[in-house]
Amino acid sequence: ADIPVITIDGPTASGKGTLSASVAAQLGWHTLDSGSLYRVTALAARRAGVSADDEQGLAATARAMQLRFEGVRVLLAGEDVSDELRDEAVGMMASRISAWPAVRAALYDLQCGFRQLPGLVADGRDMGTVIFPDAGLKIFLTATAAARAERRLNQLIAKGISASLDDLRADLEARDERDRTRATAPLRPAEDALRLDNSQLGIEASVQQVVAWWNARQ
Ligand code: C5P
Repeated sequence: ADIPVITIDGPTASGKGTLSASVAAQLGWHTLDSGSLYRVTALAARRAGVSADDEQGLAATARAMQLRFEGVRVLLAGEDVSDELRDEAVGMMASRISAWPAVRAALYDLQCGFRQLPGLVADGRDMGTVIFPDAGLKIFLTATAAARAERRLNQLIAKGISASLDDLRADLEARDERDRTRATAPLRPAEDALRLDNSQLGIEASVQQVVAWWNARQ
């Protein structure tokens, strides 16, 4: 608990990843992209032919994964799967399997292990509520569904992938609904979280806000 943590939770495509990477860079801290752990579990399960309905099989898959993290790259059994993890289909399966308590339990220790000096910025859905409840600063990041769908679309366009704005918005709203209504570790702000809506706020201003909040508490 001596190792400082800032948690950034929020819905899909709210900009958590970009914000946490930028805050971590500014502070010189480590990052945990917890969504990537659910995504890589989904990918490993799909490859092993484990069904999204098989809670125990999924948890066993999560525990058996041979993972390595090299900066922002994720290696599964030595193979760099970082790009594949960003696929919408993998994200959707991650959302489905993350509702299983045994899957969440299987990924708990792995996530706690990212807490290392000089500090950690952790982003996801339950960083402030379940994984790091003692974090020194908790952010709940939001943006309108329209703003989030547009960001997702621009990310895809940048990768040369075409998609429909309406489909993306429907997908992310479905994913949020599932994340909010599941019984275990639902998406919700921690009681002591500070809310930040970045629909109108640029990344630089968002980073400065978080760092200012952090400094004000030291
Ligand atoms: O954040 P990202 O889109 O990569 O997360 C993929 C899925 O993993 C989310 O839709 C959510 O269901 C799940 N997730 C979770 N808890 C976290 C992070 C992600 O349940 N801490």
